[in-house]
Amino acid sequence: MRKTRVIAVSSGKGGVGKTLVALGLSMVLANMKKDVLLVDADLGTANVNVALGIPVEYNLWDVVKGRTDVDNAIMSVEEHLDLLPGVSGVYEATFWRMRDTEKLWRELDGVLTRYDYAIIDTGSGIGNTVVQFCIAADEVVVVFTPEATSITDAYALIKTLHKEGYDGNIYALENMVRKVQSDLVLAVSLKSMAQRFLNREIEILGTIPFDPQISKQVRYQELGKYLHQSDEFMFYMGTVVKNLLKSGEDLGSYKPSFWSKLKNRLSKMMGT
Ligand SMILES: Nc1ncnc2c1ncn2[C@@H]1O[C@H](COP(=O)(O)OP(=O)(O)OP(=O)(O)O)[C@@H](O)[C@H]1O
Ligand SMILES: [Mg+2]
Repeated sequence: MRKTRVIAVSSGKGGVGKTLVALGLSMVLANMKKDVLLVDADLGTANVNVALGIPVEYNLWDVVKGRTDVDNAIMSVEEHLDLLPGVSGVYEATFWRMRDTEKLWRELDGVLTRYDYAIIDTGSGIGNTVVQFCIAADEVVVVFTPEATSITDAYALIKTLHKEGYDGNIYALENMVRKVQSDLVLAVSLKSMAQRFLNREIEILGTIPFDPQISKQVRYQELGKYLHQSDEFMFYMGTVVKNLLKSGEDLGSYKPSFWSKLKNRLSKMMGT
């Protein structure tokens, strides 16, 4: 039994702000005194620790390779918020296999009971590993920006999850919105596309405005500090979390172990 709510943050197109959103969600939940584990699951170009300026000793790849246990790799970011750092610049890790996913989730199963939420920052696209990480989660937040390619790619990810039989909630979140008037217009059209072509309901979580300071703070490795001080970011992210809590699974209700749920879903996906 566990009470942890596992939420994947993903996207069709890269560079749309998944990492920012995963960090923002984690920070707002941690502010609410929820215990959160942020898992940097971007295999190859992981960067949560870089944006936060945290030096890393062990990462998720070391856990998969058995060089350390998951407890040893998890680091504290701030009160109520821990990070399992991701892997960057290891070519071998880009050949991630199903057995690596299995090993990681088995290890995570052991520590997740300590947390109220696990937020998984995935890579982008509809590749095998991204889809596996999404399928393992209770819910998936699909991030997109106001660009035609980003919306098309967000739809492609939603369609893939749907076709693979994913039965968790799927949410849409629009990032880098420049005109307040255009709030939610694109999210509504993404929702209508899913309804019309897939007969699938997705929920709209909200929008995050474009803020030129954000990239600057990533460069200075001070993103966490900046986001905490940004009333605008915290306001919008707070609304997103409120919507997520309103529509998601009840915290505290019974859930099968992470591993057994994943095994069921993956075997469904592979038709075994
Ligand atoms: N709301 C925003 N306002 C301004 N800049 C933003 C915003 N969201 C993200 N960015 C910037 O856009 C870039 C990409 O953001 P981020 O790394 O979060 O995207 P990603 O989807 O995780 O990318 P990747 O696919 O490479 O993992 C970063 O430089 C980030 O600072
Ligand atoms: Mg990222």
